[in-house]
Amino acid sequence: MAKLSLPANSKMRSNEFIYGVATASFQIEGGVNKRLPCIWDTFCAQKNTIADNSNGDIACDHFNQWQSDIELIDSLGVDAYRLSISWPRVINKSGELNQEGVDFYLNILNSLAQKNIKAFVTLYHWDLPQHIEDNGGWLNRDTAYLFRDYADKISAALKGKVYSFATLNEPFCSAYLGYEVGVHAPGIKGKEYGKKAAHHLLLAHGLAMQVLNKNCPDSKNGIVLNFTPCYPETNSSIDAKAASYADDYFNQWYIKPLFDGQYPDIINQIPDEQQPAIHDGDMDIISAPLDFLGVNFYTRAIYRADKHEHFFQIAPPEPRTDIGWEIYPKAFSELLVSLHNTYSLPPIFITENGAAIDDKIEQDQVNDIDRINYYQAHLTEVNNAIESGVNIKGYFAWSLMDNFEWAEGYSKRFGIVYVDYITQQRTVKQSGISYSAMISQR
Ligand code: FCB
Repeated sequence: MAKLSLPANSKMRSNEFIYGVATASFQIEGGVNKRLPCIWDTFCAQKNTIADNSNGDIACDHFNQWQSDIELIDSLGVDAYRLSISWPRVINKSGELNQEGVDFYLNILNSLAQKNIKAFVTLYHWDLPQHIEDNGGWLNRDTAYLFRDYADKISAALKGKVYSFATLNEPFCSAYLGYEVGVHAPGIKGKEYGKKAAHHLLLAHGLAMQVLNKNCPDSKNGIVLNFTPCYPETNSSIDAKAASYADDYFNQWYIKPLFDGQYPDIINQIPDEQQPAIHDGDMDIISAPLDFLGVNFYTRAIYRADKHEHFFQIAPPEPRTDIGWEIYPKAFSELLVSLHNTYSLPPIFITENGAAIDDKIEQDQVNDIDRINYYQAHLTEVNNAIESGVNIKGYFAWSLMDNFEWAEGYSKRFGIVYVDYITQQRTVKQSGISYSAMISQR
């Protein structure tokens, strides 16, 4: 069996370094009748939005199988589990807590605590209640305040049971994919929307940090951002400029406000109708201190100069994973070192990293050697970043189990555990066995 290993003297072999697995509510829970509708329910019901025309009604049926799923997590020997809370499950239409939904998460958190597994809770992993979208969603500034109220109520209810709260998962995806190119829910398209949505998401984050720090000062409170580092196709200065603009637009746009209290300078090149509506004091709220930064990394992107646009992204070269993303591990350490050199950062957790592989289950086994190789290469780069001085405290594999992969539906498998969606049977893949062995052999 292929093994995952780390150098003998690596800090990642210390018991202090946290290893975990990650999931998100809409991607695994199902239990659709026990919550309010969210934007992903609506999006899935539209034509040509999801590759396999599926939805999240059942997903991995985690809503019913959570007890055995936690046994499964425990059997892997991980230190932590990153999950997200479904806003439409815990808050009813009038804005009050829905106790049945809260109990679902309390049971999970109590069970994790019994097993000594740290809970990393994300408050928003993209499942906005539909009735809030009906009032404009993230294009409406009020949504930021509704998010604060939700964060206030749910953090008070879960107080003392959560090791770490993240406000948002990947605001880039919510804003750009959801409100600019429309390939994610709510499917809105238009350059004039993306940056407006992004600003309200970041404001929501800042407002939520205030209530998290009030209710749960002992939890580590922060945010999870995704990064797709931007590389120029050639070493020409025009390609370098294109890649740098893309980096500001897709990556720095979300981190710079958090640590520098301002958007990248390209804001001055953005036409008026695409500008976010920034009120006095917003940037102070957004840039309040964080206990940690969550970094999600999967791949890089390559750009060339373009006559009409600021950049043109070329098709990713091989090798690629099953979702078409280039495998380029070096970008991971280069990203971490560059963030460390650019900003004054709190400790970092790698909150997601993993690969979609076209897995085959044969005789109750999934021999996902390509995924093991992906993990090995990327864990090595995390270790390289640590050796270069980046303060990284933990690593989460995306994902615990195969699940609803957004616009790809169930056609792309990211799990270290295989899910048979007909029987709901879970089978630990070779990658899961290797990950578990690596953790236990620290
Ligand atoms: C990230 C998402 C996560 C998962 C992975 C593959 O962007 O946060 O839910 O879908 O990609």
